[in-house]
Amino acid sequence: MNKKKYYITTPIYYINDVPHIGHAYTTIAADIMARYKRICDYEVFFLTGTDEHGQKVEQAASKQGITPRELADRMVYGFIDLWKKLNISNTGFIRTTEERHRKVVQYIFKKVFEKGDIYLGEYEDWYCIPCESYFTEFQLKDGKCPDCLRTPDRLKEESYFFRLSDYTERLLEYLESHKDFIMPEIRYNEVTSFVRGGLRDLSVSRTSFQWGIKVPMNERHVVYVWFDALTNYLTGIGYLEDDEHFQSFWPCDVHLIGKDILRFHAVYWPCFLMSMDIEPPRHIFAHGWWTIEGQKMSKSLGNVVDPHEIVETYGVDEFRFFLFREVPFGLDGDFSKNAIVGRINGDLANDFGNLVSRTVTMVNKFLKGKIERPKKKNGIDENFEIETKKYVDEYKKSMDAFGFYKALQSCFDMISIMNRYIDSEAPWRLHRDGDERLSTVMYNLWNGLRILAVLFYPFMPEKSQKIWDAIGIKSSVDKASLEDEENFYYTEEISEITKIAPIFPRIEG
Ligand code: MSP
Repeated sequence: MNKKKYYITTPIYYINDVPHIGHAYTTIAADIMARYKRICDYEVFFLTGTDEHGQKVEQAASKQGITPRELADRMVYGFIDLWKKLNISNTGFIRTTEERHRKVVQYIFKKVFEKGDIYLGEYEDWYCIPCESYFTEFQLKDGKCPDCLRTPDRLKEESYFFRLSDYTERLLEYLESHKDFIMPEIRYNEVTSFVRGGLRDLSVSRTSFQWGIKVPMNERHVVYVWFDALTNYLTGIGYLEDDEHFQSFWPCDVHLIGKDILRFHAVYWPCFLMSMDIEPPRHIFAHGWWTIEGQKMSKSLGNVVDPHEIVETYGVDEFRFFLFREVPFGLDGDFSKNAIVGRINGDLANDFGNLVSRTVTMVNKFLKGKIERPKKKNGIDENFEIETKKYVDEYKKSMDAFGFYKALQSCFDMISIMNRYIDSEAPWRLHRDGDERLSTVMYNLWNGLRILAVLFYPFMPEKSQKIWDAIGIKSSVDKASLEDEENFYYTEEISEITKIAPIFPRIEG
């Protein structure tokens, strides 16, 4: 059967630096969505990679006395290794220095040029090297780059230009008829008002450095790094190489990005695509930024958070969970040790962990390690099942709209009704009194836990598997289908439920 397709991307990361918590955040978010779509029975293509060209890389390499290629070959492993450690389930990885990518970039550049949307001109303005961006006098903030607040250089060079100004109206019409093209809404509004101000033609080539893809009709120029980088989203799914694969995944369902790179994705990129007669992506979701213990993260402050260290201290799934439980996806957040410890001990060890161990212990003790078909039901038991369904529906609605925070809230609401159900129905009393409702209550709790593990799976894949193991399910949660798992059912196909070590151990702050 032909499965529904879903295509999700992360930005491709600059390789002049090692990955930090900000990179991890975007990539984990994409992984959560990719895993969620898989349990919703989609065939997912999940692309990430590295952005290896540009002046920054050229300069970083020359400082170290090596070639940019050598620098890239060395630094790319920082990302590949971290993604492994964080259990990132990407299906594609692209480096912009790959041959397949050079071909695509040159092909597109030439096609757009032949169409008349790229022309040769001269450019002079303020250029910020770290941001690889030109700014007008008017855009500078007190003479500084408006994005990173560093001092820009005055640059003048012959340059190819993309006729972005010709696309102002078309892009506005597109935005008008696709209100969910850019999410969250605040970012949509930001972009729309920027475009309403009118677009200027965009310089898409450089002659001031060498490390990049050559402009096909003029080897003195290299292609502007953002033109090169954005195109990765086409190369990564086989553009020019495997048309069938490309057609089956394009238009991309979502480009996940940070709010700092919104303009490139939401303004330039759709216009490049329109010029190529390729449909724009369906959505662009821009998330917020993390500060560290209340401060902007920066090398000079020495507070850059190394994800390896966090994972070693707190655990992979704990880290993944924390990032999306702490802050609504889309807003800015603050990372602090206190906050992560609080979430682990409160939400995971106390609320969720206790629920798992109480349930497992009781099935083991009162029912000899097996759940039973429910025998006697009352209104409270029926209501429990109805409530659970309500939370699952809420969860799905939130996940479909990138509402990770709300989706997790639905899970915790479910955890709290389950904990209350145990307290009020007191299975130990039912056991003591030989009441047949015991089998119903334990059946309900077992089902609730099984479903919860599936709902948490996109966030904490390893912990979810541990929960399935603990409640005797023999299959892998990786292969679960939410549609099959979201309903209550009875099965004899489980292994004996025995005592377990805590799945969410408490940690010392
Ligand atoms: N190479 C470009 C992207 C090209 S995509 C066609 C780039 N790379 S980057 O390595 O600088 O940043 C990639 C991502 O990391 C961005 O989405 C950015 O928002 C994110 N973050 C970097 N620092 C961050 C925080 N402090 N907090 C959250 N995310 C942040 O831009």
